[in-house]
Amino acid sequence: MSVCIVYHSETGTTRTVAERLAAAVRGDLIEVKDLAGYSKVGMYLMGAPRAMRGKKADIEPAIIALSGYDAVVVGTPVWAGSPTPAINAAVAALAGIEGKPAFVFCTSGGSPGKTLETMQAMLAGRGADVRGAVALTARDAREPAAVEALVSLVRPLAAGTREAMVSP
Ligand SMILES: Cc1cc2nc3c(=O)[nH]c(=O)nc-3n(C[C@H](O)[C@H](O)[C@H](O)COP(=O)(O)O)c2cc1C
Repeated sequence: MSVCIVYHSETGTTRTVAERLAAAVRGDLIEVKDLAGYSKVGMYLMGAPRAMRGKKADIEPAIIALSGYDAVVVGTPVWAGSPTPAINAAVAALAGIEGKPAFVFCTSGGSPGKTLETMQAMLAGRGADVRGAVALTARDAREPAAVEALVSLVRPLAAGTREAMVSP
């Protein structure tokens, strides 16, 4: 099974988690860029209110094709207790998501709010088979072991584990 890890990261924390997960499950990474190109202040003044209202950003790539993948993981930073506008747009841009197993994660300062619930609902609304969700703090993300909760959810579906799954 092949896993696609789609994530947004403005300051690197979500990227670190996504990269560790990709290494552990031999997944492919797709980083979504918000074309707004926020400054540090702009993230709070413009990005956070947009996140709170569930807005979608203009993103690159504009379409994320999942046809070659068996499962998808979507990771977001928490902005104002919500997924980022880039991730709202990324979920809408997932082509071929219908029926596929999906997992979500977020990184935050410790108050993720309804971020995971919102992402799970968005993915379910796209027809994904949502299987699990993990919230990490930015502090957790500095510890390589912190990604284990996510790895143990995704690994049963990942490349190289098929033999383990079919063995008696
Ligand atoms: C605009 C903005 C809003 C944020 N809102 C929250 C929040 O509501 N709750 C929280 O715990 N952390 C919040 N944070 C902290 C980030 O979620 C946290 O630093 C995250 O790991 C950043 O991910 P990144 O480095 O991948 O961009 C916010 C950060 C920014 C820039």
